[in-house]
Amino acid sequence: MEDAEKRTIVLGVSGGIACYKAAELVRLLVQEGFSVQVVMTREAMEFVTPLTFQTLSGRPVATETFSLTQESEIGHIRLAGQAHLLVIAPATANIIGKITAGIADDLLTTILMATKAGVLIAPSMNVHMFENPILQENIGKLKALGYHFIEPTEGYLACGYEGKGRLPEPEDILEEIRRLLKKKDLIDERLLITAGPNQEPLDPVRYVSNRSSGKMGYALARVGLRRGAKVTLVSGPTSLVPPSGARLISVRTAAEMREAVLQEFANATAVVMAAAVADYRPEQYVSKKLKRAEGPIVLKLQPNPDILRELGERKNGRILIGFAAETEALVKNATKKLREKHLDLIVANDVTQEGSGFEGDTNAATLMDRKGAVHSLPLMSKEELADRIYDYLIEIRNSR
Ligand code: PMT
Repeated sequence: MEDAEKRTIVLGVSGGIACYKAAELVRLLVQEGFSVQVVMTREAMEFVTPLTFQTLSGRPVATETFSLTQESEIGHIRLAGQAHLLVIAPATANIIGKITAGIADDLLTTILMATKAGVLIAPSMNVHMFENPILQENIGKLKALGYHFIEPTEGYLACGYEGKGRLPEPEDILEEIRRLLKKKDLIDERLLITAGPNQEPLDPVRYVSNRSSGKMGYALARVGLRRGAKVTLVSGPTSLVPPSGARLISVRTAAEMREAVLQEFANATAVVMAAAVADYRPEQYVSKKLKRAEGPIVLKLQPNPDILRELGERKNGRILIGFAAETEALVKNATKKLREKHLDLIVANDVTQEGSGFEGDTNAATLMDRKGAVHSLPLMSKEELADRIYDYLIEIRNSR
């Protein structure tokens, strides 16, 4: 995480069985560079001891309003002021009720009353409690006042019931925290992003494809959403979980990808083509499985249309960002694609370099624009690269 974004999270833990998941959330937050101050209610301490959170956060846990030592060392007003974001996970029906009623009768509710920071609430409880109209009305009132909520998920609940009430996975709460803290400088953009490979079927059990995992395109979608953009993600087959908030269109072949992209293009303000579009498809699809025979067989391939080139011919003010997966003459080949496809920016990755290109979580890219600027970036995470690409997109937009 960049220094400017290292933030203090005050994590309020109220008394529910999902307290144990909050411990994992603290671990993830610390790992990502956040300072985490945990505040526990008396009920939460019945489920997990403060020592667990103290060990994971590296800070004493705040529990008491009227403890002289805690108040002088931590102090509820100081905590309220320090927080860049206050997160309550898990949040019980009780604490949600207290916040709605303006009750401040323990340390956590007092901090909540005193803070000017944003508040993210992650409810977790029995399904009937969650559905109770009193709770739902409270949630509605708090949302109207600007409190943020992350919906509980459905499934088996510790009380034995099935239904909505599970605390979301710590990774999902972390993603929501990232989103809330990120600057919203893409709020006016409607991004059309492509990701992953294509599969070009040969017979019912075989296809021609490539090594793209979709990770670069999905990172672009996540980071775009965090920065406030509306995101449509046209994805070839991947094993990745689609980012919540993105409109996902799943496709298989290059022809399906082309159709979806052309359809969505009219509504987009910018396009980022990170997909490894299949350049060729088998000339013939055989409807029965090809039988093994003695000797070699010859496979004839037909070229697929170049989607990005088609978009370049009708871009009409939209910003077009392409990728180039190169194994030689990176700048020369990518510059040719930038020109021929009428792109505003091309992200060239040398896919022979260790840690760069296909499958991994990192990439090393060179960004080139129409004015001839060439920026070689070091190896970084695909999310960091996505941020750099969007910074460039904003520069291009501002220079128009
Ligand atoms: O998915 P990952 O495992 O994370 O890997 C990421 C990646 C290596 C796939 C990604 O970083 C990348 O380089 N994507 C583009 C791969 C590619 O197809 O490069 P290309 O040089 O063949 O194509 C140039 C551009 O034209 C690309 O933006 C491509 O999406 C587009 N294209 C290509 C062929 C075609 N028929 N239609 C297209 O629109």
